[in-house]
Amino acid sequence: MGLFDNVLGGGESLIRNEDALDFEFLPKVLPHREKEQKSIAECMKPLFQGRNGKNIVMHGPPGIGKTAAARHVLKEVEEKTDDIHPIYINCWQCNSSYQIIVEICDQLGYRLVQNKKTTDLYKVVASMLNKDGKSAAFIFDEIDKAEEYDFLYFILNDVYRKSVCLITNFDTWLMSLDHRIKSRMMPQTMAFKQYDEKETRDIMKQRMGYAFPPGVWEEKAFDKVASKTFELKDIRTGLFIMRESALVAESQSKKRIEVPDVDKALENVENFSVKKKEDLDEPSQEILSLVKDHSGLKIGDLYKIYEEKGGKYTYKTFQRKIAELDQNSFISTKRLKGDGGNTTVVEKKLTDFQDKG
Ligand SMILES: Nc1ncnc2c1ncn2[C@@H]1O[C@H](COP(=O)(O)OP(=O)(O)OP(=O)(O)O)[C@@H](O)[C@H]1O
Ligand SMILES: [Mg+2]
Repeated sequence: MGLFDNVLGGGESLIRNEDALDFEFLPKVLPHREKEQKSIAECMKPLFQGRNGKNIVMHGPPGIGKTAAARHVLKEVEEKTDDIHPIYINCWQCNSSYQIIVEICDQLGYRLVQNKKTTDLYKVVASMLNKDGKSAAFIFDEIDKAEEYDFLYFILNDVYRKSVCLITNFDTWLMSLDHRIKSRMMPQTMAFKQYDEKETRDIMKQRMGYAFPPGVWEEKAFDKVASKTFELKDIRTGLFIMRESALVAESQSKKRIEVPDVDKALENVENFSVKKKEDLDEPSQEILSLVKDHSGLKIGDLYKIYEEKGGKYTYKTFQRKIAELDQNSFISTKRLKGDGGNTTVVEKKLTDFQDKG
């Protein structure tokens, strides 16, 4: 055997299909979510007969296939008929009624939105969807991030044939919903359970098959990724570990991914959240726990709570501290376009949702 037989050539990669490791990637079949997809489909079935559909609220912790299952069903609707408009909205990206209705217009192919008010656009959408024989299947993902629910009221009241599916991480979210909407929606609710060890392994194996050529993963290395993913109870983080392990092996020009590569990748994953927490100074630790208790708030509102609790920093310093925590991956922030200019929303890390059960 030559000394360099196991060395990758320049430009060679261990990953065959990088897209398959992307979080947004939607596999052709979604194992172990058959029951959940069926429940969503049941809500939409009446639409196929030109009748009004049913509504559903789905909840569960991060990274366990809620978005994937819902998008999968929508895709099947799209492939089956042109009479039901499939509409998917992520309320983290569009969080006001205006942004949401503009996005719905866009997905319906209506482009003349400029200079129109939210209520004008409601009328446009209603007239498009209430045409003979037409209906709509709506999915509002991360619904708890929406800042107002006017748009839901509009859909429930003024769109005649629709099915509405709402997705959230929080099982208590529905209780906080306005009574006017709740009583019109009458949703069934569905809890997404975490995958068991075998299910987790199946899912990771399927993804490995999409992303890597056969034989690239040493079996023990894959086992390690699968069991770590099960331990973390989050497929998204599992996919991240899978990709990182491949990159570690690649950086050493190896042709196979082995256990030490996974170990190194795990170090990277742990570094980005758990380990360094103790290294933070006390004021930063306080801000971090504030974010954990009040995840999803605008930075201005978070600062108000901080001040009320006796926080001493000026707003500017507070902003800088938040930016630092974000840079070190203790929290995430997101810039949102609001009516009165841009604002930053501050969230705890995905893995922190699990700590709290
Ligand atoms: N049953 C499954 N089969 C194949 N892939 C899956 C399955 N469940 C989850 N995944 C994959 O795991 C990743 C995370 O899933 P998804 O985005 O649906 O999580 P989620 O439950 O919506 O999480 P969050 O609450 O954070 O939005 C995606 O890449 C998805 O394709
Ligand atoms: Mg999701």
